[in-house]
Amino acid sequence: MAVTFRQLTPAFGAEVSGVDIAEGVSNADFAEIARLFNDYSVLVFRGQRIDNAQQIAFSKRFGPLEGTVRSNVGAGSEIAVISNVDPETDKILPVEDWRNVYNSGNEMWHTDSSFKRVPATASLLSGREVPPEEGETEFATGRAAWDDLEDALKEELEDLVAIHDFAYSRGLIRSDLVDEAQRRETPPVPQAVIRRNPANGRRNIYAGAHASHIRGRDVEESRAFLRSLTERIVQECYTYTHRWRQGDLVMWDNRCCLHRGRPWNKGKYRRVMHRTTVAGIGPTAA
Ligand code: OGA
Ligand code: MN
Repeated sequence: MAVTFRQLTPAFGAEVSGVDIAEGVSNADFAEIARLFNDYSVLVFRGQRIDNAQQIAFSKRFGPLEGTVRSNVGAGSEIAVISNVDPETDKILPVEDWRNVYNSGNEMWHTDSSFKRVPATASLLSGREVPPEEGETEFATGRAAWDDLEDALKEELEDLVAIHDFAYSRGLIRSDLVDEAQRRETPPVPQAVIRRNPANGRRNIYAGAHASHIRGRDVEESRAFLRSLTERIVQECYTYTHRWRQGDLVMWDNRCCLHRGRPWNKGKYRRVMHRTTVAGIGPTAA
């Protein structure tokens, strides 16, 4: 089988064929997948019925994995389970269960673990059980948004540092979702506002829900400014909507794109997603 791909939107995204992750991927095929990842940012692999061990093994070829944050639903060490199903009873959770509310944070445009000192490079999300309608995942590329910026704004942004804060972003949902222990575990961290991919030189805006304010600037004003940057990234022409089929594996580049989950009928349909997260290689700002 040769690795082939089809571009998903003019701006980014590729559906990759000729890959069987459960079977194992040759070094040559992996090199092509890694190139596509750097160039297209979101990769869709259809029909991948994989178990956790196979997902972890494939993910680790991109680098060491992150552990999950403490209060994730059904937190394991290397697999984050994002789901509306109670792991104890295997029944759909009540819609108002705090775990559903907590996971609804994923419905804001964000990039994974930008609240960590070293933010994630990639996430791989496996659709184990998907609802028959809705519950899509949307992606937006920060590269096109950068390319389109006025020159003066490009210059202004180049050296700015944003403070990303998990307590801030989860607090937007409900003030009691992050307790003191978790606050201590995830203190605010600095992140570059503009990032550059070392493999191909492409620059992008890096913002999203965890970005609280700009270091050294007025909090409220710079918060509004960061929101305006996120708005530039998520313009419809720069987005891709993934409609899930069971067995899809979708991988995205957290360094340069934002994503969000879309709502679905949580009281009616099961949605069980398993995520692995490839750790970053270092801080983005001093
Ligand atoms: C994630 C996430 C969105 C979704 O797993 O990081 O944001 O559609 N998921 O489940
Ligand atoms: Mn996410």
